Amino acid sequence: MIADDAHGTALRARPRVLRNARLLDERVLDIVIDAGRVVAMGRESQAPQADPVDVVDVEGRLVTPPLVEPHIHLDAALTVGQPRQNESGSLFEGIAVWGERVATLTPDDVRERASEVLRWQLACGVQHVRSHVDVCDPQLRALRGMLAVQADFAGLVDLQLVAFPQQGIFGYPGGADLMREALELGADVVGGIPHFELTREDGVASVQFVFDLAQEFDRRIDIHCDETDDEHARFVEVMAAETIKRGLAGAVTASHTTAMHSYNGAYAARLITNIARAGLHMVSNPLDNAVLQGRFDHGPVRRGGTRVKQLRAAGVNVAIGHDSVMDPWYPLGYGDPVQAAFVLAHTGHLSGASELPYLMQMLTTNPAAALGLRDYGLRVGGPADLVVFDAPSAQDAIRLVNPRWLVLRGGQVVARTEPAHSSVLVDGAPRAVNFLRPAPAPTSGGEQSG
Ligand code: FE2
Repeated sequence: MIADDAHGTALRARPRVLRNARLLDERVLDIVIDAGRVVAMGRESQAPQADPVDVVDVEGRLVTPPLVEPHIHLDAALTVGQPRQNESGSLFEGIAVWGERVATLTPDDVRERASEVLRWQLACGVQHVRSHVDVCDPQLRALRGMLAVQADFAGLVDLQLVAFPQQGIFGYPGGADLMREALELGADVVGGIPHFELTREDGVASVQFVFDLAQEFDRRIDIHCDETDDEHARFVEVMAAETIKRGLAGAVTASHTTAMHSYNGAYAARLITNIARAGLHMVSNPLDNAVLQGRFDHGPVRRGGTRVKQLRAAGVNVAIGHDSVMDPWYPLGYGDPVQAAFVLAHTGHLSGASELPYLMQMLTTNPAAALGLRDYGLRVGGPADLVVFDAPSAQDAIRLVNPRWLVLRGGQVVARTEPAHSSVLVDGAPRAVNFLRPAPAPTSGGEQSG
């Protein structure tokens, strides 16, 4: 065991009981764990007299199922500045810089960088990840590196790999063959980028190609769709139509979809109706798109958001993706999905009372549905894959964006962070601060106020 810390819980520990866990519905319960599963949840749990050493009192902290990362590009992560900086910060310069970096890519280079960021994500509570992998390289070096990462992290972080044609499928010779080869090599999901194809017609054909390939290989679909400010980029409607016609509801995700911020209201309303009818999953990527979109605007500047509020109101499943971590498109971040939720709360106007807890759903149950996870969720009988936030509520977790306290996988502590301790000097005396609103003073029993 690694030495205990201030909260007394070591890596590799297997607690039997998480006492005083606050759930997203605000109930405070004990979570009883046995053989890697949650076997009971309740007040004064019926836990068999657990040895105190097996009990972790989380003191009212928020406990959720694992965070799910539905959209990241691990093969490009940590390449910022290589071989040169993206001076403008634009999407197009980013694509050019990445094209130069790909020349020196090796599977081991991909494996090292992706593994580092996956460790960061695990520390943040992420245990399921869908990573889009550029498959435009004839040697598929990125995919070979990512397949090694998938094997390395098996049982700890579940990794789905998307065959993602960064340069398009029909814009250069052999693109379609590489997509097929990527699936034969082991990619789990079929991707696309229709707005980047040479023509509107090629874009439509690329969506149909992706659907054909997915049906042939019995794979799910996740397309980078309409990631542009151009209101004429309208491939989500093609995705919805193909999903309806082929009966693929639940198996298809549209990612980015930033052109939705440019559509007129009438078109957007009709589109959202069809998205809901098709059962599409939608992934918003607020970090990258807040800096990449609106680059041709001079005020007001669009912030690269898809229409999360309207999609939610229509009953569509919407999730949040981190997208990039220190790559040619986005130089910031360390893979914490809560940072992306914090940004979306601002750019998406999701600061209403019910919207802050909804942001936490967008990091957990919503992306779990998009990824088709079967054994997921905090429930009796479910896996003891748990995240303990160092915050008492979803609102506080998103407000503070502070490190996760504990992460359990199959009942075992697989990540922990020593909480920071802050203090200030007031009137010459040190005083601790924890950035939490003080609990209201208890009212005395028999007295009633007016
Ligand atoms: Fe992306």
